[in-house]
Amino acid sequence: MTTRALVITSSILAENGQSNALANRFIDQANARNGINVTQRNVVKNALPHLDISELGAWQVAADKRSAEQNALAAHSETLLAELRATDVLVIAVPMYNLGIPSQLKAWFDRVLRAGETFRYTENGPEGLVEGKRAIILAARGGQYAGTELDSQTPHLKAMLGLMGIKDTHVVYAEGLNMGEQRRDAALKEAFQAIDQLVDAL
Ligand SMILES: Cc1cc2nc3c(=O)[nH]c(=O)nc-3n(C[C@H](O)[C@H](O)[C@H](O)COP(=O)(O)O)c2cc1C
Repeated sequence: MTTRALVITSSILAENGQSNALANRFIDQANARNGINVTQRNVVKNALPHLDISELGAWQVAADKRSAEQNALAAHSETLLAELRATDVLVIAVPMYNLGIPSQLKAWFDRVLRAGETFRYTENGPEGLVEGKRAIILAARGGQYAGTELDSQTPHLKAMLGLMGIKDTHVVYAEGLNMGEQRRDAALKEAFQAIDQLVDAL
């Protein structure tokens, strides 16, 4: 059986991005094995605008009643939702920028976190509608934050994934990347090993 993986990259540093190096490690390992089909989505190269009232409005209009402009706006979310639905494993390569996720990645979440599509409101609070998927977060950071109060990034990502119903999430950290060459090399080596093990287990 084939496992489908959607790899999202979000570094603004293109080929120099360390989170992209983590994503590439995953992709290379996955491609070296049979049975893993990788799709890539670079949310920086194909950057989305901020979500606004016109796009939200387009979601409320039935597809056959939309104007050409509303169709184009709704297509942002529809394309990304279709990609998400067609995957088994969501891999998110994420740099830490200013203690949070890149705004381009937030713009991606703003298109896939949709009431009635990926979650619904109930009397007991929101309920995820995305079933049978898991996530792997590949986190690249200049400093060292995992497990501390300043790591608002991982809980935010897990909460957004959890809202959709994706609760099986594994995080690989490459931290201290701007804390000297030795530290960086060791962090990347360790992260690569963790990625290899995760791919082996797919
Ligand atoms: C605009 C910007 C903001 C950053 N902010 C932080 C930060 O708040 N905390 C941190 O640990 N590293 C920070 N860094 C360092 C990055 O996390 C580090 O360079 C990491 O490798 C970025 O991933 P990337 O190389 O895939 O873009 C920042 C880097 C940039 C370019």
